Amino acid sequence: MTSPFSLTGRRALVTGAGTGIGAAIATALAREGARVAVTDLDGKAAERVAARIGGEAIAFALDVTDAAMTDTVMDAAIAALDGLEIVCANAGVSTMNRMVDLTEKEWDYNMAVNAKGVFLTNRAAVRRFMAAGTKGAIVNTASMAGKMGAPFFAHYVASKFAVVGFTQTVAKEVASHGIRVNAVCPGFVITSMQERELVWEGRLRGMTPEAVRAEMISLTPLGRIESPEDVADVVAFLAGDGARFMTGQSINVTGGIRMD
Ligand SMILES: NC(=O)c1ccc[n+]([C@@H]2O[C@H](COP(=O)([O-])OP(=O)(O)OC[C@H]3O[C@@H](n4cnc5c(N)ncnc54)[C@H](O)[C@@H]3O)[C@@H](O)[C@H]2O)c1
Repeated sequence: MTSPFSLTGRRALVTGAGTGIGAAIATALAREGARVAVTDLDGKAAERVAARIGGEAIAFALDVTDAAMTDTVMDAAIAALDGLEIVCANAGVSTMNRMVDLTEKEWDYNMAVNAKGVFLTNRAAVRRFMAAGTKGAIVNTASMAGKMGAPFFAHYVASKFAVVGFTQTVAKEVASHGIRVNAVCPGFVITSMQERELVWEGRLRGMTPEAVRAEMISLTPLGRIESPEDVADVVAFLAGDGARFMTGQSINVTGGIRMD
């Protein structure tokens, strides 16, 4: 009997997979049996992750803010993997600033990668799933910042609320085609993004990065910093048949920080 959590025989593409949560997602999908296209703005980083996964993992440079490149890379992945059933729109960026000091450049950068990038990746995936009659699964990486405000993060929070609303809308539009669209909302995950944020937040609040991290842990009921793998295992579940009756959901993976 095949486990509903197995991804054997599936083909997947992950964006922003050169490090952090995306690299963990690509690795988890491969562990469950999928063949994975590892993509990232940093093509060399994507290659390193694909080499680490081994087997049939392949790497592509992909800037998710570029519509033409997103289409081209998705077609190349489909050709190389001989199909595609799973797409994880994970690429994201952050900066931190008080809203009164926030620049248009910061706003546009966060919106371009986090909101528009998710749109372009989902559009490319849905078009191809529909053309091939594939009952595919899409998992977008939102954030707990997609459900609540966070100081110094007005632009990032706006971009992540966008991902949650976008996920619900696309899920309703494509459900009749058997395509599922869900999102994950991670909490405080130890990645290069978090390392940068600890320094920025410390500077904005007059604290050390270590004190900011200690506060993050104290805010987390399960009592530790989240790992990329904590997120990736939930993404792997959402991508598979175990989640066959779930769509439009934005699942908190926060160690209990958010419970709604
Ligand atoms: N780290 C956290 O605490 C946390 C919490 C909640 C949500 N998230 C979200 O998780 C996702 C991954 O974050 P992370 O912490 O692994 O970040 P990270 O900075 O460690 O990794 C992000 C990856 O995305 C790539 N990237 C950046 N711009 C890109 C673009 N235009 N096109 C394609 N790739 C691009 C980077 O090269 C990098 O490899 C993001 O969407 C982020 O917003 C992170």
